[in-house]
Amino acid sequence: MKAMILGASGLLGKALMREWSGDEVVGLTSRDVDIRDREKVREVVEEARPDWIVLAAAYTDVDGCESHPDLAFAVNRDGAVNVTQAANRADAKVVFLSSDYVFDGKKTAPYGTEDPRNPQSVYGRSKAEAEVRLLEVLPECCIARTSWLFGTGGKCFPDTILKLAASRPVLDVVNDQRGCPTYSVDLARAIVELCRTHARGIVHVTNAGDCSWFEFAREIVKAAGLATEVRPISSQQMARPAPRPAYSVLSAKSLEPYGIAAPTWQDALQRYLQERQG
Ligand SMILES: NC(=O)c1ccc[n+]([C@@H]2O[C@H](COP(=O)([O-])OP(=O)(O)OC[C@H]3O[C@@H](n4cnc5c(N)ncnc54)[C@H](OP(=O)(O)O)[C@@H]3O)[C@@H](O)[C@H]2O)c1
Repeated sequence: MKAMILGASGLLGKALMREWSGDEVVGLTSRDVDIRDREKVREVVEEARPDWIVLAAAYTDVDGCESHPDLAFAVNRDGAVNVTQAANRADAKVVFLSSDYVFDGKKTAPYGTEDPRNPQSVYGRSKAEAEVRLLEVLPECCIARTSWLFGTGGKCFPDTILKLAASRPVLDVVNDQRGCPTYSVDLARAIVELCRTHARGIVHVTNAGDCSWFEFAREIVKAAGLATEVRPISSQQMARPAPRPAYSVLSAKSLEPYGIAAPTWQDALQRYLQERQG
């Protein structure tokens, strides 16, 4: 099998490049191909002839998307369509990375893959519209929604908390948004498995269990053996440009047919801390 990873310099892309073994893997960044450039995308896909394309490339700055909606839609929706059309022509399969932010966060039980999309932010809308378009272009494509990604080799929540905790005695963290932290290594392993098992349709891929950002931060500080006090605050006390869903826990049911069982986020956090020290 030959796999092409778009977004190979990102948090997930780096983990995929490290974790994927036993197959031929080509990793591309925006310097190799800008996914907004339809002709170039077609060229690189036709040249490489991959069996699978993992589309991890995206404009992921959720607040930045609010002030640059044109860029958000150009990369996250139209760029994804370019890649999927090229895949279609070259007979390649696609795993597209989507987000929990396609949901409005009004539920109080885990979101299933069939739950209606109702994004509240530009980033969420760009991903939701991409999902709809991709399923039109390539109905058998796989849409892997994930959430709260963390890992080494890029900016992420645990890294920010650890850096702040090293210099501050107290940290205030929002306690009214709930989701599933996801370790890039575990997500990468699950994606490899999804490709090997010819996954199609929408799947939810996160670590098991859920928490608020406050609970996540408290566990990070504790696991790192730091004495920093972590205090819960509300989202209103920490206004940000993009609205976030209050509850975006994704149900893991869709992974069952593929025999993928995700480790808990607490276990993943321990492994992340080891990798970070490493
Ligand atoms: N991070 C999260 O919490 C989260 C949650 C849910 C879903 N996701 C989704 O999971 C996927 C991976 O996220 P991530 O955190 O690994 O992303 P990331 O670290 O921000 O990396 C983004 C990647 O996309 C590439 N890229 C950006 N614009 C591009 C363009 N126009 N053309 C080609 N490549 C472009 C970047 O390349 P350069 O380095 O060359 O710019 C980089 O490799 C994304 O689809 C994201 O939306 C992430």
